[in-house]
Amino acid sequence: MARTLISGGTIISATGRTTGDVLIEGESVAAILAPGQAASLGVTADRVIDATGKYVVPGGIDVHTHMELPFGGTNASDTFETGTIAAAWGGVTTIVDFAVQKTGENVHESLAAWHEKAAGNCAIDYGFHQIIGGVDEESLKAMTYLVDNEGVTSFKLFMAYPGVFYADDGQILRAMQNASETGAMIMMHAENGIAIDVLVAQSLARGQTDPYFHSLTRPAELEGEATHRAIQLAKVAGNVPLYIVHMSASEALEEVAAAQHAGMNVFAETCPQYLYLSLEDQLMQPGFEGAKWVCSTPLRTKHEHHHRDLWKGLRMNELAVVSTDHCPFCMKDQKELGLGNFSAIPNGIGGVEHRMELLYQGVVNGEITLERWVETCSTTPARMFGLDRKGAIAPGMDADILVWDPTRRTKIGINDKHHMNMDHSAYEGFEIDGKVDTVLSRGTVVVENDTFTGSVGHGRYVKRGLSTYLH
Ligand code: URP
Ligand code: ZN
Ligand code: ZN
Repeated sequence: MARTLISGGTIISATGRTTGDVLIEGESVAAILAPGQAASLGVTADRVIDATGKYVVPGGIDVHTHMELPFGGTNASDTFETGTIAAAWGGVTTIVDFAVQKTGENVHESLAAWHEKAAGNCAIDYGFHQIIGGVDEESLKAMTYLVDNEGVTSFKLFMAYPGVFYADDGQILRAMQNASETGAMIMMHAENGIAIDVLVAQSLARGQTDPYFHSLTRPAELEGEATHRAIQLAKVAGNVPLYIVHMSASEALEEVAAAQHAGMNVFAETCPQYLYLSLEDQLMQPGFEGAKWVCSTPLRTKHEHHHRDLWKGLRMNELAVVSTDHCPFCMKDQKELGLGNFSAIPNGIGGVEHRMELLYQGVVNGEITLERWVETCSTTPARMFGLDRKGAIAPGMDADILVWDPTRRTKIGINDKHHMNMDHSAYEGFEIDGKVDTVLSRGTVVVENDTFTGSVGHGRYVKRGLSTYLH
């Protein structure tokens, strides 16, 4: 079995840091050795990676991506191949993508279709959540089957997008009751889509068609209201584990914090776009430029306290996870579908490549600690979604490891470092303190010396267990 030694780095976990060596045998971590121990024990390795002066952290886990998602009359522009290679470049070693069942479709067929898109095409490991766009007897039965047999233990429901993915309160309650029997996690897109559709129609009727009206017609109150309603439904369903996705608003965070204080199994994630970008600085750029940042939930105004509150939520564990909601669309031929009508702009931002970098900048800026960076971007995502062999550097775990160089810098943008299949970057011009140095996926070096050294097909499907965050 091939042996690799990552030597001399500072190994960061969710709970602390230590200097030492990581010994990898084959695909797993074999041992963590104190400085000098490898030499005194006569440990030999086929390969030594010098991590002196660098951080050695568990590979990033992005539990919210949408490769090839059919949405808004087009498909997300990253395939599983391009998207997972870009993820590897950004220090990510596992993604959990969403298989999609729309109303009238069969859940098993939709999951099979996602397996077909991904199998043999991924550079890093991957799992699936299942979107349930049509709650009925058949899909409820399928939910149970997927938990028991397919390693799919989380289901996303939508309170938004009437006519596409929308589930009404009765349907949501039924799906939650099913999850409370199996132990599955309900993931919720919490926005009041019925009210939003009224505001969108009124805005368009007034001739307000520019991209920024996307945010003005999805007010924070309607994210807060839907979050509150989802929490109450989860309570009625027996305190079923509920995970609010892509949170952008202080109003929603307050609801989650209150539920947590009341002892409920309610969790939430946010995404880098909600920590760094805003209505004024991005969505309101002149002409159609703002379309680059049309996503849902939307970017919020910088004149309220959403950014500040979300960072606080990350420190306080009211927000347990940072994901990207990676859902890239090019401007040309894709975002352009909404020229003259913001509601026809495909919703989504690409960012799978930049989450580790952007959150590390939060460490440099004093918002979170190195340990919290690791916890929110790797350790908790693994525990939250039953990725039992991932998210920590410890004997027996998959050797998914990111070596991070804090002395270098990263420029983000299409001209500098960008491997996602997009004709623009949502973070164009951002400069980050620190840089991805080396990335290992199950013991194989997939990025080093600014080169992708992995291979398409290396990534394997990971069957997930139930969330261990509650146990
Ligand atoms: O704008 C977004 N978030 N697009 C992807 C679909 C979703 O709701 O997550
Ligand atoms: Zn969503
Ligand atoms: Zn999403």
